[in-house]
Amino acid sequence: MTIHPNVLDSGVRRESRLRKRIADEIRRDGPIPFSRYMEMCLYEPDLGYYSRSREQFGKAGDFYTSSDVHAVFGRLLARQFEEMWCVLDSPRHIEVIELGPGRGLFAGDVLDWSAKTFPEFSRALHYALVEQAANLRARLQERLAEHIAAERARVFESLEAAASTAGENIIVFGNEFFDALPVEVVDYRGGLRIGVENGRFVETFVPPTAAEIELLDRYGVHPEEGERVEATLVSLEWMERIAEIFRGKRGFFVAIDYGYTREEQLAGRHRDTIMSYRQHAASTSPYEAPGEQDITAHVNFTALRARGVERGLDPMALLTQSQFLIGIGEETQFADAFQECKPPQERAKVALQLKHLITPTGMGETFQVLLMSVGVAKEKAAGLSGLKLTRIPG
Ligand SMILES: C[S@@+](CC[C@H](N)C(=O)[O-])C[C@H]1O[C@@H](n2cnc3c(N)ncnc32)[C@H](O)[C@@H]1O
Repeated sequence: MTIHPNVLDSGVRRESRLRKRIADEIRRDGPIPFSRYMEMCLYEPDLGYYSRSREQFGKAGDFYTSSDVHAVFGRLLARQFEEMWCVLDSPRHIEVIELGPGRGLFAGDVLDWSAKTFPEFSRALHYALVEQAANLRARLQERLAEHIAAERARVFESLEAAASTAGENIIVFGNEFFDALPVEVVDYRGGLRIGVENGRFVETFVPPTAAEIELLDRYGVHPEEGERVEATLVSLEWMERIAEIFRGKRGFFVAIDYGYTREEQLAGRHRDTIMSYRQHAASTSPYEAPGEQDITAHVNFTALRARGVERGLDPMALLTQSQFLIGIGEETQFADAFQECKPPQERAKVALQLKHLITPTGMGETFQVLLMSVGVAKEKAAGLSGLKLTRIPG
């Protein structure tokens, strides 16, 4: 495939405008925390990676998420959401609040499959999409136009706006949402700050803040000589906001993401997890092409879970995507994947896609699933099919 020179040119122009905007802020305020740099690279209006109009997802973009692989991901989750609705005594209204839905493939798959396979659940289901990037919100309005017209789905800019009309029963869901939130970086020399020298971004270090030290003390590890680790403070603020919207409500919280536990960090793994992705190639330098590449950091599940517990959520499980999806799908032998396959060649293709979502060599063990609940009896929640192969029980 050839890329039109105008496309390349507009990317280069956008990148240099963003570099200038970041540099101007640094000249005005002094070196900025890594989280601010990451925030501008990803979300600066018009120029940030998710805010600009170019494709980010799928083959034409820079990375694949589970929903890009096959609709079976959303369909299996629809099956799990339907079970959750039953555990909540089948209320007349349940709201799935999806954090960071991107281009809305997952939401479409859940809504379509629920209508087809779980008609009673579908009648109760309302879907709120919380997306901060204005261009993605516009794409969601388009992609989900039918569901929006039928008042089944709505698009919001903030979690609080979505929650304010949600009713008593909710499921808060995010796939690869927490890994896209800005993080602080703590190096063995201190907290990372980004400065600018002769027009180039340079790394400087200051003593870590009290909040960073506390997070690493309680839920992570301190970097050893030559090392750096992330302090996922913004994701903990999100957990607090999620706990706040659960007040007076009941339901479930489901986060699927790249991530680690404190034990894994203590064993020497998952340190320095910041990665950048551009056109399906990974790079470890977040400074290479600001705004033109995705920047992600693994989620600290120990910290996220603990903050949820502190704020009133009940822990249920942390397990691999593989265990979770097999638990949901095995009883029906993954009928959700194969039901619509007509020619046998299609079955073979779908079997490969399913395998990619589930096996350790694919996405099955790269992704973890954190499940929590509010106002749900433990014994009832324990019966969910997704928990059959639980790795770390709540
Ligand atoms: C890696 S993408 C995942 C997209 C989608 N969930 C999927 O699996 O394909 C992260 C998404 O989170 C959104 N996001 C990041 N920060 C957000 C925030 N503060 N509020 C709402 N959405 C946000 C991004 O704009 C982007 O759509």
